[in-house]
Amino acid sequence: MDRFVITGPCRLSGAVRASGAKNAALPALAACLLTDEPVRLARVPQVRDIHTFLRLLAHLGVGHQDAEGELLLTPCGARRSADEAPYEVVKTMRASVLVLGPLLARHGHARVSLPGGCAIGVRPIDQHLAGLEALGAEVRLEHGYVDASAPRLRGARFRFAVPTVTGTENLLMAAVLARGQTVLENCALEPEVEDLAALLTAMGARIAGVGTPTLVIEGVESLGAARHEVVADRIEGGTYLIAGAMTGGDVTLVDTRPADLAPLIAKLAETGARVEVGERSIRVQGSGRLRASDLTTAPHPGFPTDLQAQFLALLTQAEGESAVCETVFENRFQHVPELNRMGAEIRVEGNTAHVHGGTPLSGARVMATDLRASACLVLAGLAAEGETVVDRIYHLDRGYEQMEIKLHRLGGRVERTASTS
Ligand code: UD1
Repeated sequence: MDRFVITGPCRLSGAVRASGAKNAALPALAACLLTDEPVRLARVPQVRDIHTFLRLLAHLGVGHQDAEGELLLTPCGARRSADEAPYEVVKTMRASVLVLGPLLARHGHARVSLPGGCAIGVRPIDQHLAGLEALGAEVRLEHGYVDASAPRLRGARFRFAVPTVTGTENLLMAAVLARGQTVLENCALEPEVEDLAALLTAMGARIAGVGTPTLVIEGVESLGAARHEVVADRIEGGTYLIAGAMTGGDVTLVDTRPADLAPLIAKLAETGARVEVGERSIRVQGSGRLRASDLTTAPHPGFPTDLQAQFLALLTQAEGESAVCETVFENRFQHVPELNRMGAEIRVEGNTAHVHGGTPLSGARVMATDLRASACLVLAGLAAEGETVVDRIYHLDRGYEQMEIKLHRLGGRVERTASTS
């Protein structure tokens, strides 16, 4: 098992380009189940979740090959009867649930293992299932699997009780091939949903209301070939901007969509970092002393829960008292005890972390529990005095492409080594 050895403190400076968004590439891959024609995807990140999903797709009849640096997905005539995402895959990657909608729409049947709990909370999929039922699917839960069938889905009106990102994506992919009109209300507004809608539209789907909470979909008989470039990863890019601010550095994120990062840009400015926003770039310069700032996570366009851990790392270095309230997931403060071991002073009460900021961090051996918590510990290690060892880097490898290389180029002293214990 690999780990990172970080020698701090480092001041990051330079330009960095985010990879394509993992959370946009995953639904894009799932959308390939909706057609018999080739789909070409550019800017797909080389991360473990994508490789896992490609294995799942191969099992479901979609093959892939490299095409001049892009990913070409084509039906490979594998077992059509499978229509199943098995437990072994779903347990390693919850996003496997994204095959449910497309399989059902295309083949009239899908069997997907229930994801169950995970490190950051319960994370039910009841809204995915209620939406599919509204479209006429018969959904049964048995032996830990969702078994859904419908000879042909039919358009309907469905309102999400909570805005859910993968739930919206699943329903969108089901509705594009349903008979008639579907109206989805209270949809998630995350840029990744918009990116999926752009791909589906390029494949021939008819979707109105993209970028608003209400999506209106006119079902079509079939979808065809398309090429699509995956949107830049706002969470990965945001992580490097936070690292720049927190290390008193000067980091420019290039080839990105600043609007997707508006909530982070506003928060960085509040802490006293200097932020310059260009058309396709964001530059952040850490000031001598950062100021405390309160934060509440919320669905887009609120502050993303996927940047909460990283921003909390920054707030440990901001003078004063900050309160960070996590409203999207329960149990998403598992990085706190590890930050405290490095010298942070954070107290968790319910869904709020109270930070007494400005305490010096010192390197320590720490353990990551999930993807974003791992990134938070890496940032803390960059700001800390001495050596930090972050174990269980496989969490990071799920979602960050070449993180140590990108940090290296920015002047971070980060080495990947094989763990001996
Ligand atoms: C996606 C992202 C994840 C991010 C999250 C929130 C992917 C692959 N993952 O996860 O990185 O942290 O959005 O931005 O895109 N909920 C229900 N019932 C449901 C579905 C969700 O109650 O059927 C609740 C969840 O428990 C959570 C909230 O809704 O409290 C938002 O979750 P959701 O948007 O569904 O997260 P994911 O799509 O799983």
